[in-house]
Formats: sequence, structure tokens, C-alpha cells
Amino acid sequence: MSIIISCNNQKGGSGKTATSINIAKGLADDGLMVLLVDLDLQGNASSKFCEDYEEINGIVEAINNEVRIEDVVYPTDIQNLYVIPSKLEWLDCLEDMAREYYTLESEGKENTSVMKIKRLLEPIREHFDVIILDNNPSYKTILMNCIYAADLIIVPVNIDRNAIKGVDYTIRNIVEVINNADENVDPKFRILINKTSRTKVSRECIELIRQKFSGIVLDTTIANQISPAEKQTFFDDYFMIDDQTTKVGRDFKCLVEEIRKEMNI
Ligand SMILES: Nc1ncnc2c1ncn2[C@@H]1O[C@H](COP(=O)(O)OP(=O)(O)OP(=O)(O)O)[C@@H](O)[C@H]1O
Ligand SMILES: [Mg+2]
Repeated sequence: MSIIISCNNQKGGSGKTATSINIAKGLADDGLMVLLVDLDLQGNASSKFCEDYEEINGIVEAINNEVRIEDVVYPTDIQNLYVIPSKLEWLDCLEDMAREYYTLESEGKENTSVMKIKRLLEPIREHFDVIILDNNPSYKTILMNCIYAADLIIVPVNIDRNAIKGVDYTIRNIVEVINNADENVDPKFRILINKTSRTKVSRECIELIRQKFSGIVLDTTIANQISPAEKQTFFDDYFMIDDQTTKVGRDFKCLVEEIRKEMNI
């Protein structure tokens, strides 16, 4: 049975997609069967692997029961790496999910809306060693779905002046959902410090995060390197993790090793 890793932070631009893509590539290169599921209407992870992601069936059609989940798993140019793409219409699905959640809550019924993603992935879990979920910022209903589905939640946080605020909000929400769910819902959750530099401010900020969130911060931090990040956005076959001449590439490699150790994969 596969391990499900979800990247969440309700603050935008914190490195969820960069993390998802690089750990997916690193784990696939290690010989593991990896599925990257894009749960973001922006389709940033999808566009890296499928040029025509807006035209083909994906997560939207699968969740709407128009197609089977098996039929929206696409191979990529990378050996062992598969993708389920997203598109703008995912916004309607998120709104439907939120509406269903609040309707079931107000009627005092069992809230099955938080198990949609877990149930959707069930038929394909046996085919993969690792399933990675890349997410939209915000949208509490999808965060809840990830918490119910995942074995590990990674919360990437950028080193900037608002870093603590965003991560604090997401961590509080994760803890609240876990505490209110039954005992089967117990994913690990770990903060990943992203966009570090060698300045004093950056070092102080890292220290502050490690103190405030003691025990749940990953050892690995990811360096801020604009040029490799831009290349990854513009060139389909460039992945930061592959470029071991860069600090950010080496950091992502360490991250993959730390995740494998932490999750026994
Ligand atoms: N370590 C890094 N060094 C330099 N730039 C980075 C790094 N990580 C991410 N970036 C850049 O920062 C921007 C935001 O990163 P990314 O898209 O991964 O964030 P996100 O959390 O997925 O955003 P969103 O919330 O919009 O989905 C992107 O332009 C990306 O290329
Ligand atoms: Mg993203």
C-alpha cells in the first residue's frame, strides 16, 4: 500500500509545488513508483508534465464521477513517475466540496465530504509506492481531505517576515482537524523551511521557527536560489533536484533522503 504525502500551506507561494515536483522526481529516480496528484486549480504541477492538461480529463472529471480515477493517471517522460492533472474547473469542485461539508455539518450527519480524496485514490493506491498531493493555498475543506488521506503532511514555509503567521495558522488548523477526527486520522506533519539564505536574518528566522515548532520541523532546509527555480518553471526537463552543482539541488536530495527515513520508504 502506498504512502501518501501531502504538501499544504494555506499561505500562497510557500513552495508547495516546488517541493511536490522535486520529491516526486527524486523518489521516482530512486526506483519507487510515484504518482503526483495536482489538487491545485492553477495547474502548476500539471503544466510541468502535461502540455495539454487543460484539455484532458483529470482530477476534476474523476471527482465528478465522469471517468474512473484509473483513467486519469498519465505516464510522464520520467520513468516511474505518473501524474493526475488539474485545471481551473477544480475551483467548482472545491466549492461543491465546501457546500457539501457545511450542509452535512448543519444536518448533524456523518461528514463524508472530508473523505472524498482518500476514497477517490483507494482503487489506485496499490499501484504506487508513494502518492504526492500538491495543493491550492487556502480552502479548508481540501486541507481536511488531505489530513484524512495523508500519512505525512509537509508544510513548506518561506523565510520572510510573515513566515510564522502563515505556518502557525496552517499548523493550528491541522491540529484542530486531527483532534476532532477519530483515532484513525493521525498523519505526521512536518514543517519544511524554504528559501533560506546565509544572512543573519535568515539564520535567526530558522532558529525562531525551530524553537516555536520544536519537534515538527524537518532537519533539511531548502536554499533560496532563483535561477534554478526559474529554469524549473521554464524548461520541462529541468528539475532542481537533478542539478547537484547547486545548493538547492543538494538540499532537495537531502529532503528526499530524510523523508524516506522518516516514513520508512
Ligand atoms: N528554493 C527556492 N528558491 C528560489 N525560488 C523558489 C524556491 N522554491 C520555490 N521558488 C519559487 O517561488 C515561487 C513559489 O513557489 P511554488 O510555486 O512552489 O509555491 P506554492 O506554494 O506552490 O504556490 P501556490 O500557493 O501559488 O501554489 C515560484 O516562482 C518558485 O519557482
Ligand atoms: Mg503551487
